[in-house]
Amino acid sequence: MHLGIDIGTSAAKAVVIDEGRIIGVGSGEYPISQPREGWSEQDPADWWRGAVAATRAACRDLDPRAMKGVALSGQMHGLVLLDREAIYKAGTGLLQPLRPAILWNDQRTQQQCDAIEKALGGRAACVRAVGNAALPGFTLPKMLWVRDNEPEVWSRVAGIFLPKDYIRFLMTAETVSDFGDASGLLMLDPATRRWSDAISAAFEIDRRFLPQLRESAAICGDLGVWAADQLGLARSTPVICGSGDNQCGAIGAGVVAPGDALLSLGTSGVLYVHSDTPRLDAPEAGPVGRLHSFCAADGKSGQPGGWCNTGCMLSAAGSLAWARSVLAHNQPFDSLVAEAATAPAGCDGLIFLPHLTGERCPHPNPNARAGWIGLTSRHTRAHMLRAVLEGVAMTMRQIFDLLRGLGLTVNSARIGGGGAKSTFWRQMHADALDIPITSLQTEEGPAVGAALLAGVGCGAWSDIREACAAAIHHRETLNPDPAAARRYAETLQRFKDVYPALVPYFRTAGG
Ligand code: XUL
Repeated sequence: MHLGIDIGTSAAKAVVIDEGRIIGVGSGEYPISQPREGWSEQDPADWWRGAVAATRAACRDLDPRAMKGVALSGQMHGLVLLDREAIYKAGTGLLQPLRPAILWNDQRTQQQCDAIEKALGGRAACVRAVGNAALPGFTLPKMLWVRDNEPEVWSRVAGIFLPKDYIRFLMTAETVSDFGDASGLLMLDPATRRWSDAISAAFEIDRRFLPQLRESAAICGDLGVWAADQLGLARSTPVICGSGDNQCGAIGAGVVAPGDALLSLGTSGVLYVHSDTPRLDAPEAGPVGRLHSFCAADGKSGQPGGWCNTGCMLSAAGSLAWARSVLAHNQPFDSLVAEAATAPAGCDGLIFLPHLTGERCPHPNPNARAGWIGLTSRHTRAHMLRAVLEGVAMTMRQIFDLLRGLGLTVNSARIGGGGAKSTFWRQMHADALDIPITSLQTEEGPAVGAALLAGVGCGAWSDIREACAAAIHHRETLNPDPAAARRYAETLQRFKDVYPALVPYFRTAGG
């Protein structure tokens, strides 16, 4: 048996896999706090409590001694800071970070992003140095924000952790990360898979505070006594490195060969295309850095893995969850989507821009805002809900076109994340992207991917491809309907016109 734990944005999820079959699933929810406009934070202690609840639920009827290994997946880019005192206490209990974690969808750091790109010689130079533009979601700008705005906190920093790596530290007292998640810090040279000397020197980040880097399937420690007792697992269970939720989600969907694609509808929406060489989004002309280039999690010792090319919209299923809370008294998602389906495709001209927490792709703009455009008194709640679903699908289509612009050929995609539970939304994506979309037997892709990495790390499979072949099962393929694809192509034209028209307003809207 192998366990995968995903530290997501709304909950921790745990999945137990036995010889390729899922035999246990659990989750533990936690809140997200927005103390100011554009800020997004969580208490890392909540992640731990969520991980404990999820693991105990997933393992409820299982013998902990049969668990051969556990691996971690997690929301990318978040910043957790520990001081020296916490570092010394590693392995003895819950360690209180210096401040709440700053998350992937936090938008406070535009000034620091501008400074990073300026210091590196512009956005294209930044993409060439670290694979990505300096965007507020990434970790380095958050570090610089703390240094600039909370110098007292920064002066006490002795360890810098990504979300799942903080959980690993509680489990093993090891300061370790993997190439995939680390490439989202904006400090890794993805071509060499090493921390960039130029970046740590330019921004005076002490390299001793950064984690050691390992392949995702590497064993990186043993479960300590305190953590084992909390999680209900056996002491000294091997802990395998794992990766970011996008990399693990790709493995959990069997997306491990060049051209394989995953459309993920979680809080964020990500279109992920695997490649065997890095594809940097730094064209000679036109916008630069809207797409990300991260390391994938399919490597093993002596055989570095591939690359993941992603476009990330910040509020995908997050938009639907928000619409449900404000329009529908948290009514079940199924009935909400059934109501949306009663409105016609194109929503009689109504459009929803999904930039509820600013945006990253296709518009890297922390000041972007969401909204319904084109309401008339003939529109109903069903139109408003369908417009939310369509707004996400139209944004995904724009990301899809950008990825193809990098020269990536994508003929079909798999789909995962909570939003993939809806057949209606899956079909909408098949029509909007005009490609077949395949769902999987579970939507818990990141936790499944982590469990498979644990299996590879413990020798149950020789590599990640063999693990995927044994454990990933397709559920259903939805083909695009040509008439619907034509209608959505028209909707896309209208949709694309709205954002640029609103940019001047976003500049002054503030918060
Ligand atoms: C990816 C990103 C999000 C988070 C969500 O760049 O920021 O998908 O990983 O957990």
